[in-house]
Amino acid sequence: MNWWENEFLWVKKNKLYLEDLQAEQLAKKYGTPLYVYSRQKVLANLRRLRQAFEPAPPGLEIRIAYAMKANSHAGLLKALLKEGVFIDAVSPAEVEKAIKAGFHEGRILFTGTSLSQEDFERVLAHPGITVNIDAFEQIESLAAARRRRRIKSPVRVSVRWNPGLGRGFSSKTVTAGERSSDGTPIKFGVEDSRVIETFKRLQTLKFLPVGLHQHLGSGWTEEDFPVAVRAVDRMIKKAKELQAAGFNLECLDFGGGFGPKYLQEERLFPLEEYAAYILGKVENSRLGIRAIIVEPGKYLVAEAGILLVRVEYLKKNYGHLFACVNAGTYNTVPRPAIYKEAYHEIVNVSQVNGSKKDRITVAGHLCETADIFGVERMMPRPQPGKILAVLMAGAYCRSMASNFNLRDIPQEILLGSV
Ligand code: LLP
Repeated sequence: MNWWENEFLWVKKNKLYLEDLQAEQLAKKYGTPLYVYSRQKVLANLRRLRQAFEPAPPGLEIRIAYAMKANSHAGLLKALLKEGVFIDAVSPAEVEKAIKAGFHEGRILFTGTSLSQEDFERVLAHPGITVNIDAFEQIESLAAARRRRRIKSPVRVSVRWNPGLGRGFSSKTVTAGERSSDGTPIKFGVEDSRVIETFKRLQTLKFLPVGLHQHLGSGWTEEDFPVAVRAVDRMIKKAKELQAAGFNLECLDFGGGFGPKYLQEERLFPLEEYAAYILGKVENSRLGIRAIIVEPGKYLVAEAGILLVRVEYLKKNYGHLFACVNAGTYNTVPRPAIYKEAYHEIVNVSQVNGSKKDRITVAGHLCETADIFGVERMMPRPQPGKILAVLMAGAYCRSMASNFNLRDIPQEILLGSV
């Protein structure tokens, strides 16, 4: 069995199947490039996540707020809606898409950065949303937007603080701390010393402060566990300071970040231990917290999507062998072009395994050197016309795709509804 096989993606007679459909057949029927998603796999991941938090004591609600920036396919949103999931939205358009999919305002948390008053006005068209403040400096324009909308009922707010430490699989996805690992100043969250002042200002302006939020970064593996739990400790300490200052919080939001397995040798983030740690700390804290929020993106959807592409020809150049495909990374799976650490397994769908393997670089059709899906992968040599599957394409692929070179973004299909 290949390390990446699962209930969505499996191999029979050396051919790749997506649920019970042959990948080759799907490519033939719908054309390539093509994104294929599995609702079943998303729901299985959701069940695993819920199980991790199952030991929660009665009276402590666990809210899973899906980070829809990872993939906002309407069919996936609807499937998650049915399961009682909440939404983490980061732009007015994401809020509007969640509302359109059927999410109740009270189940949407809006966390934006570098926002305009117009952004807030659009979001407050749905006044039941919880607005997660990213800066003390955002408060006045939120208040102005509330006036413009003539909202009299209390608007629920929480504060995203920056606990001073962060973790991510790439320096570009570390979202807390003073600087990222490559020295980039981190723009997110309210710094430690200004958290109480931010709560006080919100209270003065008659907002209803309900929670404290942090998000450390994206793509954690086992190595990131010690930092993740240190950040949990910091959150509890901060919530206690807030309690002492008279703010009794309803919820603590630990953000997302825990990754699925992108690489064979990668060790998974110990989710059960992390959940147990959070639950233990919250219970012992006597903070009177009523809900814990986590905001998974990748964890739920990355494994539940693939991209199918067709090999146009094999090109030899200075000793390299390229499989040139009919898609560009930026228009489909941009992650390997953006993050040097991003890895997506690539599979020849009509001959998954083979004793004879070649060293193949899978190149796209864009005019940019970074337009490479995979560098020097050992795989059976695919013939022109054959289909390759780029795995782990369910998260941050379609949602980050552009029309660079005026290439189209491929169509998406959701298995079970086609
Ligand atoms: N909550 C907040 C406030 C976030 O900013 C994010 C992701 C998440 C939750 C979900 O994180 P996840 O569980 O998916 O790691 N484009 C990058 C990922 C950037 C994530 C940004 N924020 C990538 O392709 O890896």
